[in-house]
Amino acid sequence: MTDQPFLPAVREQYESFPYPPRDPADELRRLVHSVPASLLAINHHCFNGRRDFRSGFRVLVAGGGTGDAVIFLAEQLRHYDAEVVYLDMSLASRQVAEARARVRKLTNITWVTASIMELPRLGFGPFDYIECAGVLHHLESTEAGLAVLNAVLRDDGAIFLMLYGKYGRQAIYDMQALLRNYLPLDASMAEKVRLTRELLAALPASNSFVRDLDASGWEISTEGFGDAGLYDLLLHTQDRCFDVPGVYALAGSAGLHLQGWAWRAADYEPANLVTDPEVRERVAQLDLPRRHALAELFIGNMRTHEFFLARQPGRGASLQDEGCALRSYGALLFAASRLAEEMVPGPGRVLRFEDRGVTLDIPCTPISKVIYAHMDGRTSIRDLRGKIAQAVSGATPEAIDQELQSIYGQLHPRGCLYLIRAGDYGTTVPDYERLFTTRPQ
Ligand SMILES: C[S@@+](CC[C@H](N)C(=O)[O-])C[C@H]1O[C@@H](n2cnc3c(N)ncnc32)[C@H](O)[C@@H]1O
Repeated sequence: MTDQPFLPAVREQYESFPYPPRDPADELRRLVHSVPASLLAINHHCFNGRRDFRSGFRVLVAGGGTGDAVIFLAEQLRHYDAEVVYLDMSLASRQVAEARARVRKLTNITWVTASIMELPRLGFGPFDYIECAGVLHHLESTEAGLAVLNAVLRDDGAIFLMLYGKYGRQAIYDMQALLRNYLPLDASMAEKVRLTRELLAALPASNSFVRDLDASGWEISTEGFGDAGLYDLLLHTQDRCFDVPGVYALAGSAGLHLQGWAWRAADYEPANLVTDPEVRERVAQLDLPRRHALAELFIGNMRTHEFFLARQPGRGASLQDEGCALRSYGALLFAASRLAEEMVPGPGRVLRFEDRGVTLDIPCTPISKVIYAHMDGRTSIRDLRGKIAQAVSGATPEAIDQELQSIYGQLHPRGCLYLIRAGDYGTTVPDYERLFTTRPQ
């Protein structure tokens, strides 16, 4: 145990290497966005799609780094009566984040330089939503960090966590072990970076990290996250990883329930990963946590776990809620209505969609054409049923249900479709078309 509320070596790292490296001038040309900072996704996963963010929404970005999440959240909440609190123990990181906010003329952020462990005495909160990405696994105790976040959460609030995955980062841990053996103990941070780069260039191709270099290339390359990325990935002094049972145990330690995976949700279902019918049948018998745990081992390359937590189970939106509307997002954000126009319905017809790492084979039916044309966040499922019945003769309620479920099952786990309550709230949901000054990357 240290007598300080943070680990000194970790603070020193982020003072020297704010993470991720960002140039405030880039705010003039693009907005960095992410699922856990998207009000649409937050609403879907944590508030049954029914939260109205226009009044009194209080959000904490814990360990906000150079500001990606806080900037995106503050942009979406800019015109509402909301409070956005950024907290990080690294002043250098906060300075980058604040400069980005100034470029965007955002004035709705409260800036705090402190440790997460000091939250109870700081008097902020309670919060409706806490975003904490890539932070708790660098604390002395992840469990203690989560307990503190939970202590400043409203009873009906929710927390997002991104934590390192165990199996997908094995090659990284091999390299960290190698470097602990190789680097002089008294080397400075800059010297460690230099020696690490020199060594990486010299290692044989059979080395596990070198073999897996494609997965880490951006993180450590000079065009990507550079020295800050390299230090974060390979030289961190406090780096803990979790497998799926570890994620469930951590949530349980705080009395919280997992609400859903924010990233690669489809990959947490073993049935999506194998085609053999016997294997599929065997895993279908298992309960959800076991299926998720097996899926992580099946796929083997989950480098992070990203998930929402809340005190009560069942906080996700549901297709059974007829007052909800469909809203396309992610790779489909700008594409759903175009796909509806391109669809030529017919037996066995499939439309291939490929963009930003998402590949979809979309069955083209008269019903799916109408559904794709109304992924607008405004048309309730109830109204959508009426539109389908008008446009498609003979469309039975059962056929509509089946297509809704299959489209939702295909798109939602890939981050392409969410549900939010339609109507007044839906029509004033943040204007993503305006926010994305360029197409989202
Ligand atoms: C890997 S960065 C992630 C930054 C940001 N959340 C993101 O995803 O871009 C980790 C951040 O957590 C902060 N951090 C680590 N331990 C902390 C603590 N005990 N209290 C507050 N911030 C902490 C670091 O200063 C750093 O900015």
